[in-house]
Amino acid sequence: MEFGEFCDRLIENTDIVKLISRYCSLKRSGNTFKACCPFHSERTPSFTVDPIKQLYHCFGCGKGGNAITFLRDIESIETIDAIKMLADEAHMELPELTGRSAPKADKQKRMRLYELLREAALHYHENLRSPKADIANAYIAKRNLPPNIVTRFGLGYSIDSSDAVNYLKGKGFTETEMKEAGLVGYNEYGYFDLFRGRLMFPIISNLGQVVGFSGRVLEKTDRAKYYNTPQTELFDKSRTVYALNLLKKRRQLGMIDYIIMCEGQMDVIALHKAGFDTAVASMGTALTYNHARQIKNYTDKVYISYDGDGAGQKATLRGLDILRERGLTVKVVQLPEGMDPDEVVNSENGVEKYRKLLDEALPLTEYKLKKLREKYNLEDRDERAKYAAEAVALTRRLDNPVETEEYLRTIATETGYDMNVLRRQAEIAPPDEEPKQEKREEEQKKESMDKNEAFLLAAYIADREYVEVGDMNEIFTEGFGKLVVDSVTDSRMRGLKDVGAMLYSDLPEEFQQQLTDIVGFDFGGMDSREMYSACVLQLKCERLDRQRDELMKRYDESKDPSLLIQSMELQKKLKKLRRDGGSK
Ligand code: UTP
Ligand code: MN
Repeated sequence: MEFGEFCDRLIENTDIVKLISRYCSLKRSGNTFKACCPFHSERTPSFTVDPIKQLYHCFGCGKGGNAITFLRDIESIETIDAIKMLADEAHMELPELTGRSAPKADKQKRMRLYELLREAALHYHENLRSPKADIANAYIAKRNLPPNIVTRFGLGYSIDSSDAVNYLKGKGFTETEMKEAGLVGYNEYGYFDLFRGRLMFPIISNLGQVVGFSGRVLEKTDRAKYYNTPQTELFDKSRTVYALNLLKKRRQLGMIDYIIMCEGQMDVIALHKAGFDTAVASMGTALTYNHARQIKNYTDKVYISYDGDGAGQKATLRGLDILRERGLTVKVVQLPEGMDPDEVVNSENGVEKYRKLLDEALPLTEYKLKKLREKYNLEDRDERAKYAAEAVALTRRLDNPVETEEYLRTIATETGYDMNVLRRQAEIAPPDEEPKQEKREEEQKKESMDKNEAFLLAAYIADREYVEVGDMNEIFTEGFGKLVVDSVTDSRMRGLKDVGAMLYSDLPEEFQQQLTDIVGFDFGGMDSREMYSACVLQLKCERLDRQRDELMKRYDESKDPSLLIQSMELQKKLKKLRRDGGSK
């Protein structure tokens, strides 16, 4: 059976009323059922389920779809997982997708790994009672974490490099499985717990499965403060929202008006302890479209509460746009310089202080205006004009005319320009925000050429024997990277010796700086075949990931099942790539 056809049958075989009534109480009203919408907060029911068409729709928030999209959105899971769950309930066998992998074996293996991680989490938690855990308990005391919080977040301790490994072996798990779960490494002494000596934070999916860990060092050391499970079949940082499992429980108690997005686990824990029980975190990564979608399933409003330092603020700007593009209302909490939410709530009168910071949080546009203002000297006439033009352009993104008017008024006061002038400027400002956005991304890329990419290009220019031209062509498909690769390939084919000189004359002026950075790239410890393979794998995965997000975004808009299938195929490719490694 074709996959699209299978989905149609699955929807037919699913009782959508029964499914949805697990999440809200449906009341019959003529031929349909009604309820208060489980996706947004409301007092009068505008959520309708049509048992004949097998569809639901909310006239309040506009959400609608079939059994598959409902389960996906309400549980914040991937479409394919929703399909699998419904298929299980309907006792239907998922059709073989193209390719040879056996889904059954796959599923059994995944179940084993989940079980392994669950056992590990329980064991680490149990360890806190051991006298060997004094250092961990002292740290927990120092951070003022009461027992109920330690339990709620399932904190634990990894005693040493062999304790958990031995325990899991005793439970019948193999070292290979532990490696696949991202728990152990291997060196000349054998397998060892990657988290040895760390305070353990299990990362739990919203289906309640442990998918990975984050571990914090307890002693002064030059190792990274936090170590996270590496990318595995079950764990992917760019798709993980820490504490989402608690958000799901929280929703069962009542509507969630807003969530607070922080940078780290400790911030989340401190906020929960202080009563802000809708705090979650992206695990030290930039926000992705996937994060945004998961959040959107719980609420329409997000407070960004990143560290008050420069790095935190920089990461914010990009993430904010992603959230807004997904239809979330974004407010930015202005934390005192150098403090994180954890430090604020733990200071004197911290809870009230933090509540006040939430109240005073800036709406997205206002925050951006503020950032923009910091770039210009408004005393200077020319700079003031530039500021006015850029600021007005920012307001073009607003779809609310009243809000636009408000902002224009602010800008008028700041710059002394007449409102009418600003309005006219707003009309001539580029009407389409898309190109501007692309440019912004382009600019960002230029600013921070990915270290992995820089290394690959440098290695290609330097003609390292481990570089495969095929990898280069696959990874660099546009912009600067492609120009470099093409030019180098071309020079080599023509037998030219000095590739670098050729590059300088080949590439447009605007890329000269980047080129200089790459030609002078400091290989440091990177110069090896292993490093090369790791980088290639990473970049190929990122690429597929981006393509997949793009497809899912389009699928969300058009509901065209062929996009879904394409996306699933990409997912399979990605899995295979991770299993087999990057370089062919
Ligand atoms: P921070 O360095 O801001 O730590 O990293 P923190 O959350 O304030 O932690 P405490 O209070 O010192 O315990 C923020 C987040 O970035 C990720 C982690 O997810 C962390 O919570 N991170 C940080 C890493 O993944 N690795 C690191 O080495 C550091
Ligand atoms: Mn902190």
